[in-house]
Order: sequence, then structure tokens, then C-alpha cells
Amino acid sequence: MTLSNLPPLVTIFGGSGFVGRHVVRVLAKRGYRIRVAVRRPDLAGHLQPLGKVGQISFVQANVRYRKSVDRAVEGADHVINCVGVLFESGRNTFDAVQDFGARAVAEAARAAGATLTHISAIGADARSASSYARTKGRAEAAILDTLPGAIILRPSIIFGPEDGFFNKFAEMARFSPFLPLIGGGHTRFQPVYVADVAEAVGRAVDGALKAGTIYELGGPQVLSFRDCLEIMLKTIERKRSFVSIPFGIASLMGSVASLVPFITPPLTADQVVLLKSDNVVSAKAEAEGRTLTAIGIKPTMLESILPTYLVRYRPQGQYTGSGRAA
Ligand SMILES: NC(=O)c1ccc[n+]([C@@H]2O[C@H](COP(=O)([O-])OP(=O)(O)OC[C@H]3O[C@@H](n4cnc5c(N)ncnc54)[C@H](OP(=O)(O)O)[C@@H]3O)[C@@H](O)[C@H]2O)c1
Repeated sequence: MTLSNLPPLVTIFGGSGFVGRHVVRVLAKRGYRIRVAVRRPDLAGHLQPLGKVGQISFVQANVRYRKSVDRAVEGADHVINCVGVLFESGRNTFDAVQDFGARAVAEAARAAGATLTHISAIGADARSASSYARTKGRAEAAILDTLPGAIILRPSIIFGPEDGFFNKFAEMARFSPFLPLIGGGHTRFQPVYVADVAEAVGRAVDGALKAGTIYELGGPQVLSFRDCLEIMLKTIERKRSFVSIPFGIASLMGSVASLVPFITPPLTADQVVLLKSDNVVSAKAEAEGRTLTAIGIKPTMLESILPTYLVRYRPQGQYTGSGRAA
């Protein structure tokens, strides 16, 4: 194979994360050359078997350091940004990672003459009271300013084997007799399967999506926070009580939890702000064909996937007799 007929090179920032690893899998199957840009390449070895020998390479990059971003993007045909943080830790702040970092990736992609797919989130809004949503919103505007042809994907809450939502509450249900319903559990989500999000990224890289467009990715069902926990409990065959926690108290608990050093806070005050708004695909995105279905992907049902990875939280794991509840 000569240099001119090599498959296109795709650089993926955040390829080691939950969404990133599924994106790597989807692109590897399509035959792209993949360069995974991560802070700790030595910890990203789990990605190597997803591709053929020599198909996936690694480069050290931190989106807070522009030079490392430029180096990672050099020679790339397409750039994907799957970097995000749900809580701040040290210098990895929302501003530094989701705003400054996302701009750095867009500027580097433009300088390299590459196209860009950026993962944002439903609720991204430059005027939001939540730092997570605000920095996502600011980044979207800056990206489209820098690269008007960029594609932005805004998922609702994402489920899949390594997710941080269903796994967290299923783990909690193993030990706790009750589960918290933040703000009464009324917030509505549209859980979307990680493989569907990755497939949307794959189609963006293939050039099948409309340049300069913001897509909103949701699953086939709109479910309340409470509905999600009930489906999770049914899946792991456990019965637990719910305790409603008003937003004000949850926010206080989140602030205190964030003060404890060296632990991943189970909830932050910023996440409580996010929970005050529904996280579903907008009617405008539906009407304008900026959804999964519109790009030819049939969204996967939550109940068809949850048992494949939550089975380990059942009282006796996969050997739990169906119908019993602990
Ligand atoms: N999961 C969801 O339900 C959900 C919903 C909507 C939108 N999203 C968005 O989807 C994207 C992926 O989320 P995820 O769930 O896959 O998150 P994740 O598992 O936490 O992955 C985040 C990735 O970002 C990387 N990262 C963090 N700080 C970095 C920095 N300074 N420089 C370079 N890389 C850095 C992490 O690498 P390290 O290994 O080095 O930490 C990791 O690979 C994010 O933009 C997120 O906001 C997620």
C-alpha cells in the first residue's frame, strides 16, 4: 500500500473514556487508521485489540496544553472530540477542559485542514446556571465559529456496559435499602445506547451527516429519573424504597461531597443544577431532522441492553432465579 491510498487518519481525543472506546471500535471496523490522543497512553492498552495490528496508535495529549493537541492532530483527516468532565478535579476544570480544550481541538483541526466531530450534551447552553452545560454551550459556539462545517452531537444520558448512571445506582442498590430521588425523581431523560452514539460518530466521519449541524441524540423512550431507577431495579431483581431528596438538600450534599479529597463525588452541586431541567431531544431538532432516526439509526431500547451488563448486580449474579427479589 502506498501512502496515497492509505485509509484516512482519524484522531480521537478522549478515546479511553466510556463513549470514546465505542467510537474507536466503530471506526476500527470501518477500516480507518486511528490515533487515540490520551493523557496516559500507558493506561489505554484496552483499546488495542479493537483494531487490526498497526491500525490503532496512541499519542500523549492533554487538551489543556495546546502544543500536545497540535501534535496529536498533525496529518489527521478527521478529528473527534470525546473529552468531557462531569466534575472538576485539580486543574481539570470545566472551563479548562470543555471550553478552552474544545476550542484548542477545533483550532488545531482547522490548522490541519481536518473535519471535526464534537461530542457535546443535550442542555448545552452558554447561559446555563450549570458550569457543565455552560462550558458545553460556549464550546459549541466557538467551534462553529472556528470551523463552520463541524458536526456537533448532543446525546441525552448514555447507557452501556461502562456507563456512570445505571451502574452507579445498581451498585448503590446492592448495599443501600433505599435509593435517592433527587428533586422527587421527575426529571425526564431519553437514555441513548452508547453503540448508537458511536454509530452516529462513524457516520459523521464517513461524511453522511450534514456539515455545520447540531444533532440531538436520544433513545426511543422518554423516562423520568424514577422510571430509570425502577427499570434498573427490575433488571437486577431487587426491591428498594425510594427517598425523595429536594434539590436544595441534594445541592448541599453535593457541595459537601465535593470537598472530600481523592474521591469521585457521587453527586455534585453542578449535577443537581443539571437535574432541574429535562434532558430530552427538542421538538425543533425532531422537526428539522437532527436526530438519530433522521440519520438512519434505529435507537435501541434500554430494556434490551440493561440485562447484558447489570446482571452482575443481581443477588446471585447470573444465577439469580428470575422472579425472586432480594
Ligand atoms: N456519559 C453520558 O451519559 C454523556 C451524556 C451526554 C454527553 N456526554 C459527553 O460525551 C463525552 C464523553 O463522555 P464519557 O461518558 O465517555 O466520559 P468519560 O468516560 O469520563 O471520558 C472522558 C474522556 O475525557 C478524557 N479527558 C478528561 N480530561 C482530559 C484532558 N484534560 N485532556 C485530554 N483528555 C481528557 C478522559 O481521559 P483520561 O482517561 O485521561 O481521564 C476520558 O478519555 C463527553 O464530552 C461528555 O460530556 C456524555
